[in-house]
Amino acid sequence: MRTEQPKMIYLKDYQVPDYLIDETHLTFELFEDHSLVHAQLVMRRNPLCSGALPVLQLDGQQLELLSVALDGQTLGEGDYQLSDSHLSLQPTASSFVIDTSVRIHPESNTALEGLYKSGSMFCTQCEAEGFRKITYYLDRPDVMSRFTTTLSAEQHRYPVLLSNGNPIASGPEDGGRHWATWEDPFMKPAYLFALVAGDLWCVEDSFTTVSQREVALRIYVEPENIDKCQHAMDSLKKSMKWDEEAYGREYDLDIFMIVAVNDFNMGAMENKGLNIFNSSAVLAKAETATDAAHQRVEAIVAHEYFHNWSGNRVTCRDWFQLSLKEGFTVFRDSQFSADMNSATVKRIEDVAYLRTHQFAEDAGPMAHSVRPEGFIEISNFYTLTVYEKGAEVVRMIQTLVGAEGFRKGSDLYFERHDGQAVTVDDFVKAMEDANGVELSQFKRWYSQAGTPRLAVSEAYDAATRSYRLTFRQSCPATPGQSEKLPFVIPVELGLLDAEGRALALRLEGEAQAGATTRVFSITEAEQTLTFVDLDAQPLPSLLRGFSAPVKLSFPYSRDQLMFLMQHDSDGFNRWEAGQQLAVQVLQELIGQHQRGEALVLDTRLVSALRTVLENPALDPAMVAEMLSLPGEGYLTEISEVADVDAIHAAREFARQQLGEALHDLLWQRYQANREQSRSTAYMAEATHFARRSLQNIALSYLMLSGKPDVLAACLEQFEHADNMTERMTALAVLVNSPFAVEKAAALASFAEHFKDNPLVMDQWFSVQGASASHGTLATVHALMEHPAFTLKNPNKVRALIGAFAGQNPLNFHRIDGSGYRFLADQVIILNALNPQIASRLLGSLTRWGKYDSTRQALMTAELERILASGELSSDVYEVVSKSLA
Ligand code: TRP
Ligand code: ZN
Repeated sequence: MRTEQPKMIYLKDYQVPDYLIDETHLTFELFEDHSLVHAQLVMRRNPLCSGALPVLQLDGQQLELLSVALDGQTLGEGDYQLSDSHLSLQPTASSFVIDTSVRIHPESNTALEGLYKSGSMFCTQCEAEGFRKITYYLDRPDVMSRFTTTLSAEQHRYPVLLSNGNPIASGPEDGGRHWATWEDPFMKPAYLFALVAGDLWCVEDSFTTVSQREVALRIYVEPENIDKCQHAMDSLKKSMKWDEEAYGREYDLDIFMIVAVNDFNMGAMENKGLNIFNSSAVLAKAETATDAAHQRVEAIVAHEYFHNWSGNRVTCRDWFQLSLKEGFTVFRDSQFSADMNSATVKRIEDVAYLRTHQFAEDAGPMAHSVRPEGFIEISNFYTLTVYEKGAEVVRMIQTLVGAEGFRKGSDLYFERHDGQAVTVDDFVKAMEDANGVELSQFKRWYSQAGTPRLAVSEAYDAATRSYRLTFRQSCPATPGQSEKLPFVIPVELGLLDAEGRALALRLEGEAQAGATTRVFSITEAEQTLTFVDLDAQPLPSLLRGFSAPVKLSFPYSRDQLMFLMQHDSDGFNRWEAGQQLAVQVLQELIGQHQRGEALVLDTRLVSALRTVLENPALDPAMVAEMLSLPGEGYLTEISEVADVDAIHAAREFARQQLGEALHDLLWQRYQANREQSRSTAYMAEATHFARRSLQNIALSYLMLSGKPDVLAACLEQFEHADNMTERMTALAVLVNSPFAVEKAAALASFAEHFKDNPLVMDQWFSVQGASASHGTLATVHALMEHPAFTLKNPNKVRALIGAFAGQNPLNFHRIDGSGYRFLADQVIILNALNPQIASRLLGSLTRWGKYDSTRQALMTAELERILASGELSSDVYEVVSKSLA
């Protein structure tokens, strides 16, 4: 907890470190009621600095200092200074050795940062600034050191002792204890340090690299989970192979380990050679994990593995550069997932997620650029902007220089900066140098926050057979940034003729026509492209593949959107046309609801989706994506003032009408696919995902009819499915249905069956927390008393409270303010237990600017109440104070 007003830290104040740490030798003695950490740091003056030797300030928090020595001489109390964040002393030579011993309390660490216990095992989480809760250190990513680590613990409770690198020695010790020493040959910053001690089993495999080196692969889990590791292992081997082929990156140690822990603040962590994972990001098998969970495991295993190069071999100079490793690595994992599954479906999912969540963040009080300028608490900047928008920025570079040029740029980046701690500028410079291009204006994507708008208008001139597209870009003000300069916006586009054929694109002044789809850079506030050789007015297909993270507008009619849905050669834009059509229709319904009129659905939406369902040639995954109406979250994001009740009513009405009008087609598709599910063994593979996604969205539409044969089918699927995807969908549609008896029975039997599997129980909490049914808040309160629930486990908090606050607009935003009050109560409790989780939960309250004045007043009052509730962590303080500013 804070003792002083937290301070902002600014990028512009960056200075190189005064001292370096060449070697770090750590010894951990792990006990049940405390642990001892001995650190020997072999240090020297940074050769980049000159002049008198400054005071050495080591970072350290919540450490009980037992002893400190300089060059072997124990220091007395007058020889050093201690504060609650630093240990300071004056070196007398430019090379020296510091020895410290501290006592810490992992057994009572509920913040899950530093060394902590998860169940019966010890583990660590050091990124971003957790290492300072383990020992006194220069805890900053530009200080890189060679680590050796010795762990000692009770043999019986902790048979497995792990750290980064290679095991070099081990042995027994008196008193039923044993020890092991690990040595990491690679220099690394402290945030990549890890250790694990526990009673773990492991699944073992191996991978032969391109240069024929054999790497041992191990996934460590609690014994009861040993049957749920195969999918993660397969994903790891695919990732290793893919990174060799797509980026020329080979693994560098002889051993790669993953450890699954139940209590973890995020998805996973890329510690060198010893990745630590949230068990939800490792464990997956058909009976207990959905298709979405399988795909998440594959993506996160890949993401953390890819960090070995983009993050570890080449790391960040300071935390303002976080997107250097995160944006790039998210981009890499999305390319990998696209290659492993359906590329178009992956792009659709990523874009839908970005537009719903990152656009909202970019329009709220915590908006910041991809490279932030200042922060109070770095943990608050592991955001959608740094991760997903950062990945979009990397993707735009690839679009601008081409796939081959991008590979040349990444090769140069890795070669030039291997073993260094660098900046976003270094990354862009490598791309520039490898391609002979200039990206200085482009770099505004890293420094300017907010989502650019791109308004496009058209004009056809029959006399000159030319067609003009005029682009106007603008970007709203964000906190601390009132004026924005034009971005470089890569717009991929095509033109369709009246038969839906793709036209060759020739710009005025070009000698000949080029391809039918091309990328144009929009660099001015207003810019016109003039296309020639056009006998009639074409229909534009703009921003194909979502070539830039902007809000595009073009005055399409609904008929034009229906035409694009059928004829656009770009699969992403076919889906996008359907979404835009649905948005127009839903916004009309929202208006009708607000005016108290009867709701009337534009039947063009019905015909458009009927055409999709009737086309047997379409990929079932695409059919499922097309059938998915824009979510309530996205409809909120694009509203000036979001009317949660109208949005919910309009969307439910549309779903109900579509379900009725398309009943026979949906029923046919449902039954055919369910029959296939019954007769084929489950596989975590793209064509199976596709089939089940269509089957399940069909079921969710059909259940709105309330027909007894549909209910019977749903219950059959719930009871007899051999996999969690089908079982969970059936449960979710039951929970949101009016069949109270069947719903209660299904929830009870599910809990009885899976009560011993925490990850499955998370899904059970989540489906109830997200239920739009009346009275959900009371259910959530009751579920918090369930024996499987605890506020100390982040997965439980996210599953129940997170689902309620983030995926249940109707109940969270109840006009009586009960949802807001509930969330604020939980944040106040969690602030003391786990500040990172408390701060993340706050997200939904910070978006108060989107709602009517009554809700705004209720939401800001809860933020005020949190602010006044006492000693706040820097995490919660920063989000609350900025949201109220
Ligand atoms: N670097 C990790 C990743 O994105 C995530 C991470 C950052 C993290 N900080 C954390 C995980 C704190 C757990 C806790 O791959
Ligand atoms: Zn990452």
